[in-house]
Amino acid sequence: MTARAHVPTELERLGDLPLADADALAGRFPLTRNENPAPEAEYQRIMGELAFGREFTDHMAHMRWTREGGWSQREVVAFGPLSLTPGAAVLHYSQSVFEGIKAYRHADGSVWTFRPGYNAARINHSARRMALPQIDPEDFVASLVDYVRADEKWVPGGDGTSLYLRPFMFASEEFVGVHPAGVVDYYVIGSPSGRYFSAGLTGVSIWVVKGHHRAGPGGTGSAKTGGNYAASLLPQAQAADRGFSQVCFLDSYEEKYLEELGGMNVFLVMADGTVRTPELSGVILEGGTRSAILRMLADRGRGVVEEPIALDEVVWGIRSGEVAEVFACGTAAVVTPITRLAGDDFDVELEVGATTTQIYEELTDIQMGRAADPYGWTYRLV
Ligand code: COI
Repeated sequence: MTARAHVPTELERLGDLPLADADALAGRFPLTRNENPAPEAEYQRIMGELAFGREFTDHMAHMRWTREGGWSQREVVAFGPLSLTPGAAVLHYSQSVFEGIKAYRHADGSVWTFRPGYNAARINHSARRMALPQIDPEDFVASLVDYVRADEKWVPGGDGTSLYLRPFMFASEEFVGVHPAGVVDYYVIGSPSGRYFSAGLTGVSIWVVKGHHRAGPGGTGSAKTGGNYAASLLPQAQAADRGFSQVCFLDSYEEKYLEELGGMNVFLVMADGTVRTPELSGVILEGGTRSAILRMLADRGRGVVEEPIALDEVVWGIRSGEVAEVFACGTAAVVTPITRLAGDDFDVELEVGATTTQIYEELTDIQMGRAADPYGWTYRLV
């Protein structure tokens, strides 16, 4: 198999542009301290039982956009319920986008994030598709800096832990006519988190869905917008009833090629060492973890190929031994081995392989500051 050179994508190019230091950006979102933060016992309980995405910190960052005035009202305020008119457009037409990014505690106590410029570029890519306003990348990063500085104590410190950051933007204009909203709110909230999959590096099982699709050509598949995830929920629930942890979607024309999981990209490691992943067809999400893995593997001289991958070929390859490992990746999932892949007429199992484990370790070593970062991907927040 010939490895084609990876051409940097627009998100990768924009994401690699230099950013001002956190100290230079800090203060754009002034803090009004929460007067009723979590009581100490509650804080200790949450930090002692880290799960994923259920508990949130004391504050949130916010700004508002209007068609006439652009972005204003930047602030960090107490985390709490939003006041939203039932006529807000997002509740009717789902005009919203979000990001997933993490804050990591390094051994010396400092707090870092990973490729914030990439997430800034991606929220703008998603916003463009959903007719939402663009955000100045430095405002995006400043919102993370000011939010994390307000809630630094919520960044956990153990292996596999982080403060999962969830920036999101939605149409808050009170109007039920279908048009791009003239009032939009942007928030950053954060959840102190452990692993997304409790099975972690032991492996998860995947049901390959037929009959339901996540996205189609020209649709919103490459945007990080809630509707794509909502579309995955019914097949996901059906797969869970069968005992599977996640679903994998196929292309919507032929139901032949792998696209992505409910919220993660998918990779194959071939027995000859080559690593393959579905190409960016405009239908799948361009994952930051996907991009980092492609770059790291290519730099280590591994053959990396982005191309259409037929399900039949994968099943046959697993049975014959030609496909040695399959793994999922994403900000939340990091790198998670897939140890069982099943669908209507097949059910195959795999071992957790050395390449998957090595990629997980090399990536998390950079993110956690245990290894040098030759790419300039880590960004100090605190
Ligand atoms: C992430 O990986 O950050 C996502 O947004 C995906 C979601 C399944 C949690």
